[in-house]
Amino acid sequence: DIKGFVFDLDGVITDTSRYHAQAWGQLADKLGVEYPGLGDAVKGISRMDALEMILKKGGLAGNYSAAEKEALAAEKNANYVQLIQNMSAKDILPGMADFLADLKAKGYGISLASASKNAPTILAKIGLSDYFTKAVDPATLQYGKPDPEIFVKAAQLLDLMPAQCIGLEDAAAGIAGINAAGETSVGIGDAELLHDAAINFTETSQVTLANIEKAMND
Ligand code: G6P
Ligand code: MG
Repeated sequence: DIKGFVFDLDGVITDTSRYHAQAWGQLADKLGVEYPGLGDAVKGISRMDALEMILKKGGLAGNYSAAEKEALAAEKNANYVQLIQNMSAKDILPGMADFLADLKAKGYGISLASASKNAPTILAKIGLSDYFTKAVDPATLQYGKPDPEIFVKAAQLLDLMPAQCIGLEDAAAGIAGINAAGETSVGIGDAELLHDAAINFTETSQVTLANIEKAMND
């Protein structure tokens, strides 16, 4: 039986993925790297891994020292932090506040599996911190998505087995991680991009307990 829900943040609870895409796009432009589909490619990918992807795409992988890479990543993050400055409860994606309230009222476990070091700031800005007292600290991770590590840890925080958990993701790397962890994956967004998800919804407004139960019984 399902007893817990493990949430990605960016692109699932709030639409910050467009800000990540914008800030990485700015950096890629500055580096002279053309990267079609960059926005989707960096979804779910940790800050340093995303930088490596961009450098690799531009054939620049060997051109920067570790310190220079840190500086480039810090520059992207500074731009990103600017873009999220004015976020508030209005930036919660449709239906997600109701979904969280419903899960809490019904006694389901709720935890966060976001790779973002900005997650606590964002949750505070949109007023959802109280739901996510259980959150994996991405600084403690050895591997980024698509590795299952973050999703396994998010289930452990709930004292649940992965099989008792549903994971919600907007990123292909995240769906792969949820599946590898042995949780039930719910993909939110482009069903083609997220074809490996056990359950697909195109919009967050479709994410309800009733719809998930229905999909699981199909
Ligand atoms: C999420 C986003 C990624 C982002 C990562 C790290 O997984 O989907 O696009 O790169 O978090 O975010 P951070 O805020 O730590 O740079
Ligand atoms: Mg995401």
